[in-house]
Amino acid sequence: MIFSVFIFILSLLIVLFSLVLMIGKNLRNKRQKDPVKEVKKFYNQTTDKFLAVYGEIIQAYRTKDVSSYLNYTAENMRLREGMKLLDAGCGVAGPAVFFAKRFQTIHIDACSISDVQIDKAKDKVNENKVELKVFPKVCDYHTINEVYEIENYDRVYFLESYGHSADKEKLLHAAWDVLKPGGMVYIKDLFKREVADEWEQHYIDKICKDIDRAYEYHIGTLYETLSILRKKGYILKFMKTPDIPLDEFEHLSISNEFQELFDIGKIDSWDDYVFPIDFFEILAEKPIIPSDEERHLYFLNKQ
Ligand SMILES: C[S@@+](CC[C@H](N)C(=O)[O-])C[C@H]1O[C@@H](n2cnc3c(N)ncnc32)[C@H](O)[C@@H]1O
Repeated sequence: MIFSVFIFILSLLIVLFSLVLMIGKNLRNKRQKDPVKEVKKFYNQTTDKFLAVYGEIIQAYRTKDVSSYLNYTAENMRLREGMKLLDAGCGVAGPAVFFAKRFQTIHIDACSISDVQIDKAKDKVNENKVELKVFPKVCDYHTINEVYEIENYDRVYFLESYGHSADKEKLLHAAWDVLKPGGMVYIKDLFKREVADEWEQHYIDKICKDIDRAYEYHIGTLYETLSILRKKGYILKFMKTPDIPLDEFEHLSISNEFQELFDIGKIDSWDDYVFPIDFFEILAEKPIIPSDEERHLYFLNKQ
């Protein structure tokens, strides 16, 4: 009898304990912020500041004459007349309008999570008379495969927008769905730097966390992205450091205006400054050849 009562009380305690754990977990999940909503809020609040410092091309790694950087980008994305592009994280459509003016027969669907940016993008498209070529829309780029047509795009590109994603696998899988076979994804972004020295790495990790917090970013490692691309079946065309002449490079992040507006990562002295990130460009193709066997034979035979 005593034993049965003991078992009953023990079972009751276990059930109660599990309930408390479950409720705690639910509360914690509710309190956790939605990263996409946070990015939206961030750009809705700061776009005017970005425009004041960056102009209409919201990219940190660039040339002083930003049009020469966009021409460089167009070359490396391998843009051609007649292509259909999806600009994922388009800002105020600065790059999309530039490409639309350079190419006569191009179609660009441009999306941003920020409605403030998309309103400005629409104005910019009208001012530049490219409304038959550039189509801005508010959309979370993780859902492009629900919003845009499947297997419809020659390029999906991310110009310093990719790193805002907290779910890079979902993002690159969504890009895969909307790409035509033979289409390519292009990413230009910053990735966490990697060094041999443990202490320096510790600082790098810390600074990256500060940047993530300040800019609603999720700085990734290069390997994570390469692994997602390769597991999905993308063919890596190239992965490289952007290559622009040193005298044309614009040190925007150390300009006074930038430091006044964004009070993070202030560089007071270069003496023991640890640089936290590297910029890379990645171009990867969704192959036309479907099976693994055919694919390997195809690449073996291709000159
Ligand atoms: C640094 S800005 C770059 C803007 C643009 N690519 C350019 O070069 O001017 C980052 C962009 O990514 C967009 N972005 C971030 N997360 C997004 C999401 N989940 N869905 C759509 N756009 C997003 C932001 O709204 C913003 O337009």
